[in-house]
Amino acid sequence: MMHLTCCSKTKLFHILFLLFGFLYSQPTENRPPLQAVSVKGTFLCGKEPVVGITVKLIDRDHDGDPDDLMDEVRTDANGTFSLTGGAYEYTTLEPALKIYHDCNDGERECQKRLYWILPTEYVTSDMDDIPIFDLGTVNLQITFGNEKRDCRH
Ligand SMILES: *[C@@H]1O[C@H](CO)[C@@H](O)[C@H](O)[C@H]1NC(C)=O
Repeated sequence: MMHLTCCSKTKLFHILFLLFGFLYSQPTENRPPLQAVSVKGTFLCGKEPVVGITVKLIDRDHDGDPDDLMDEVRTDANGTFSLTGGAYEYTTLEPALKIYHDCNDGERECQKRLYWILPTEYVTSDMDDIPIFDLGTVNLQITFGNEKRDCRH
């Protein structure tokens, strides 16, 4: 239990009132603009759809901050996914995809992690008309240069 010896209830109320008044009076124009981006695509492993793998849409880190997760889905029965995410940011979002899969990976533990940077021209602040970056169909049997292995995601 908090011990308030200094303040009468009236005075405490007054302090809280001032504090909340200050917080809520911050003009919304000072908030960074909301930006968003959409991505869709389909993953195959050879001729088979890659079903149920995790695909994340992130905003890449800024000055050492961790990447911001904007959306996360699993591929459907056709290996298809669709993501839409946004963030409040002063600078243009730097969207990227993280894909975790086991295609062409033998019996090895953990997943291959792909990290693909998306073109920023698909980022918009018009929430009524969010462009969709269409990745198309990608056969994950191919090995990409920046693959990592990831057990926790
Ligand atoms: C998969 O594709 C087939 C053929 O285009 C379609 O009929 C079906 O609805 C799709 N399944 C899902 C889960 O989207």
